[in-house]
Amino acid sequence: MNNAVAGFSKLSKKEKIDWIANEYFSTPDEALNIIRNYWNSDEKLQQLHDEFIENTITNLYIPLGVAPNFLINGNYKTIPMAIEESSVVAAASKSAKYWATRGGFKATVIDTEKIGQVHFTFNGDAQKLGDLFNQIKPKFFSDTQSITKNMQQRGGGILDIQLKDKRNLLENYFQLHATFETKDSMGANFINSCLEQFAATLKEEAQNADIEIEVVMSILSNYVPNCIVRAEVSCPIEDLTEKHITNPHDFAQRFVQAVQIAEAEPFRAVTHNKGIMNGVDAVVLATGNDFRAVEAGVHAYASRNGQYSSLSHAKIENGIFTFWLEIPLALGTVGGLTSLHPLVKLCLEILQKPSAKELMEIVAVAGLAQNFAALRSLTTTGIQEGHMKMHLNNIINQFEANDEERRLIKVHFKKTAVSHSAVVEFIENLRK
Ligand code: MEV
Repeated sequence: MNNAVAGFSKLSKKEKIDWIANEYFSTPDEALNIIRNYWNSDEKLQQLHDEFIENTITNLYIPLGVAPNFLINGNYKTIPMAIEESSVVAAASKSAKYWATRGGFKATVIDTEKIGQVHFTFNGDAQKLGDLFNQIKPKFFSDTQSITKNMQQRGGGILDIQLKDKRNLLENYFQLHATFETKDSMGANFINSCLEQFAATLKEEAQNADIEIEVVMSILSNYVPNCIVRAEVSCPIEDLTEKHITNPHDFAQRFVQAVQIAEAEPFRAVTHNKGIMNGVDAVVLATGNDFRAVEAGVHAYASRNGQYSSLSHAKIENGIFTFWLEIPLALGTVGGLTSLHPLVKLCLEILQKPSAKELMEIVAVAGLAQNFAALRSLTTTGIQEGHMKMHLNNIINQFEANDEERRLIKVHFKKTAVSHSAVVEFIENLRK
């Protein structure tokens, strides 16, 4: 049984690490070694990372890879991706190369509206509340002037504020439902600051008018169904031909069927969308954006019609194969980690300093590319061939193979199907 600890956050970093090592490890020195091995030797850089969160003990590395040759709206991009899953970057690069010779990816931002809400209760005459709201609506804008000034200069700000009667959902439940344009910032701090001021204004004005309201909370919504980007690829069916696609008509048909299954069937839709998020999250993470917010919003959007469904769609029309997706993405290229984390800055430079809209397009394309790669494998060779080839390194590392063993394993499994047991058997034979 382990002990609880009092005042942990107030301990020094050394004290915290010592406590962890002694509390949870029979060989504390080994644990300390691992923790220290992942510290950055540049003390200032380590301190920067320490201060991102509370109680930092070390850094967890995730590989940062790049997928080159993405032709998006006529321009080539190299997309940075932070991800631990072996096959994702390889799949993205393959898709990029494939579509670069077939017209490339087309991406368009459809809208960029963000949402925030003040949730409150009111037990009285809704008409009276409505009248008060209409009367004080300009005050919500004027009271937030100091917060919105800079954003307005950049072309953003508060778009609208509405009073919503939500008593059909919960007793006495009302909302201020506000919409925002936050330009190149994700806007979470801006929106939440505005909302807290709306709540203060509402409370004060309601009190002056002898109307009793109770504010429950003020917070942005990560569901952004009007902050949408579309990514698409298309080409004549004949042009789909390549090594694994000898009959492009059969391939196109099976591909469309695979998408239709994900549209119709939630169990498949979740895995299908997970494949899309392999691409989306990796770029979102590499560019210092909030992947939890993106995940939550995207999956809510996938359920918007009452059943969880595919985020991507495919069709064959007049001999043309078209494959596309539309997803909500609230992203920023200024603020947050974007100017703080040296690697995030570097990734944004690799992407040639995109605006938030351009980043939305790039992320959506990465998601579509990943989905294309997965469906292409699933409907032709099966997923394991490519996946296990990429996973081979992980198995080799698990067995701490030396250079010669590594070479022999790689030569052997170039022509042989990779499975965990086959690699283990091969290594054991080598070592006999
Ligand atoms: C694996 O990370 C993702 C896939 O399962 C996606 C899919 O099934 O479409 C391959």
